[in-house]
Amino acid sequence: MKNPIKEDYLELLDSILEHDRAYYVNNAPQISDDQYDTLIEWVKAFEAQYPEEIVPYSPTQRVGSSLSGDRPTFKHSIPMLSLDNVFSAEELFAWIEKTQSATSIQLPLSCELKYDGVAVALIYEAGVLVRALSRGDGEVGQDLTPQVRVIKNVPLRLTKAATLEIRGEVVMPKQALKDYNEKYPQATLANCRNGASGALNQNNPADTAKRNLAFYPYQVVGAANSQDQEVLSLKELGFSAHYPDWLPSNDLDTIKRQLEHYQSERARVPFDIDGIVFKVNNHDIRQELGFTGRAPRWAIAYKFPAEQKQTLLKRVEFQVGRTGAITPVAKLHPISCGGVTISSVTLHNEDEIKRLGLTQGCSVIVQRAGDVIPQITGIVEGTNIGKPISMPELCPCCNGPVEKNNATLSCTSPSCHAQLQRYIEHFAGKKGLDIDGLGPKTIAELIRSEAVKSPYDLMTLNTGKMYLCGTVLTKNQMNKLIASIEKAKKPTLPKFIHALGIPLVGEGTSKRLAKAFPTIPKLLEARLEDFMAVDDIGKDTAEAISKWMSSYANYEWVYEVHANVLTIEDPNPQSMSDLLSGQAWCVTGTLHSMKRSEAQAKLEELGATIVSGVSKNTTVLLAGEKAGSKLAKAEALGITIYTEDMFNELVEA
Ligand code: IVH
Repeated sequence: MKNPIKEDYLELLDSILEHDRAYYVNNAPQISDDQYDTLIEWVKAFEAQYPEEIVPYSPTQRVGSSLSGDRPTFKHSIPMLSLDNVFSAEELFAWIEKTQSATSIQLPLSCELKYDGVAVALIYEAGVLVRALSRGDGEVGQDLTPQVRVIKNVPLRLTKAATLEIRGEVVMPKQALKDYNEKYPQATLANCRNGASGALNQNNPADTAKRNLAFYPYQVVGAANSQDQEVLSLKELGFSAHYPDWLPSNDLDTIKRQLEHYQSERARVPFDIDGIVFKVNNHDIRQELGFTGRAPRWAIAYKFPAEQKQTLLKRVEFQVGRTGAITPVAKLHPISCGGVTISSVTLHNEDEIKRLGLTQGCSVIVQRAGDVIPQITGIVEGTNIGKPISMPELCPCCNGPVEKNNATLSCTSPSCHAQLQRYIEHFAGKKGLDIDGLGPKTIAELIRSEAVKSPYDLMTLNTGKMYLCGTVLTKNQMNKLIASIEKAKKPTLPKFIHALGIPLVGEGTSKRLAKAFPTIPKLLEARLEDFMAVDDIGKDTAEAISKWMSSYANYEWVYEVHANVLTIEDPNPQSMSDLLSGQAWCVTGTLHSMKRSEAQAKLEELGATIVSGVSKNTTVLLAGEKAGSKLAKAEALGITIYTEDMFNELVEA
């Protein structure tokens, strides 16, 4: 081949970019695949010979080299905000009325698809894509440029040499998910959103490329136009943009009709959408309306109702918790619903079973919306022909006596193995004494062999006792366990109090108790009124603590462990500034009470290190709404997960 000169190379690129647009954006290819490949070969040949001439928007530059895990972060030009949600036509109507009252002109409202993917910001300089950022905490995002470059409908160069920022959503189309799961059956992706966020988390962009993601823009940052003009300009710039619809009039009937229309179209959309975004389509009114802390007042997301499915109730199992509470759990024929497979749903208590009218072998309706825990919402009419489901008369684990208190049934046997198992899991767990490597299986074996009948037994365990009891653990396992127990004998007072597993006493209350009763004997001597007098401890909690302490068995082992086994590291409660020192926290998803950056700052104030990804070294994942792949990974790795409420309880302590 004759070496083309640089102008030829650039001209060739122009033509390839146009063909890319025709193929990936407009779905109207103008040349055959073979012809396209020939053009690419020419480009590659030129670039091999003149590597210094390669331009960043060349199609050969979509997949770069593998990167390290550390991604640089950049401050967003303006914060990347979220949207407020409504869940019914009535709520949407109320929002429209309220918004209308803030302005004198008839509100022009457009409606567009709410893409269920991952938000990204694309930054173009002189028409060339220079950077892609994740939303991050809304203020600062992570560099995703290499991962976004491989998305075929992201223009590497715009049709105009404009310097601007485009925001939108990266999605994994439904077909791409299907293809991927067929090709990689050993690593199937649960749903499109996880597929997209997982793909962007890949360090090697070639792995991102395998998932055939797509990008749909919804905002030109700083555009002084209305939304329809914005989308028009997005199309002209070379993006796959969807024209918004207009809400023909703002009355409830029209709104209902429009929502039904989208609902029925939903299955036909080639990617997942989780709702419809309504936007005030006028720049001046938008300016007038402004923003709340985390969302514009001129837009609202209507979220589709939770997906519901029917499935068979195979049986109800009863699980015994660490305080003896017996919780019914419905075991279902596995069903895919709301993007996950549901096979087990907690039923809370007997009242819930009665309310639903569950019978053996009935068909139930399950639902799951977004990140919400799956629920049974009712039973399929006419299928409740089996025996009604009743609570057990004896403990399902130890056959011990049970007692009913309000709606809660509890096993009252002091020697119930299930209770002891859950109790030791909590006592030795990360938020308790943190006995390294003492997992549920080992605990079960220690209990089975009767080497451990109480937390005191655990803390005074030795290899001799395990041999005598016939505990089935290897010598190596035994030695490791004893070493871990030894290491755990110096807890701080709040940790030890939390390890006690007193009902209603979480980490925050443990800290308050440690402050008010700085030694174990002081805590053991305290009475109900002393607990009531502690700031922020309510009547119920005070009563629960007092009841727990007044059990002689509890009193005795706590006293013994304290007197003979433990050294409380610091008799004074830890100062707030190092409460979380040595802990690695990852914050993900949408928080409602504060921005993610604020949560991170608070955690840092308490001594935690903030990490951007979840690994086995992560101590806690703070998971907000829509936590996605990090939550899944943390669950898989068994990492402690904090909800926003738990986090607030911790920091307010
Ligand atoms: S507008 C300031 N439009 O949904 C304007 N967002 O749950 C904010 N989203 O943060 C966004 N489709 O990541 C807008 N058509 C659409 C959208 C959309 C999906 C995402 C976006 C937003 C999140 C809120």
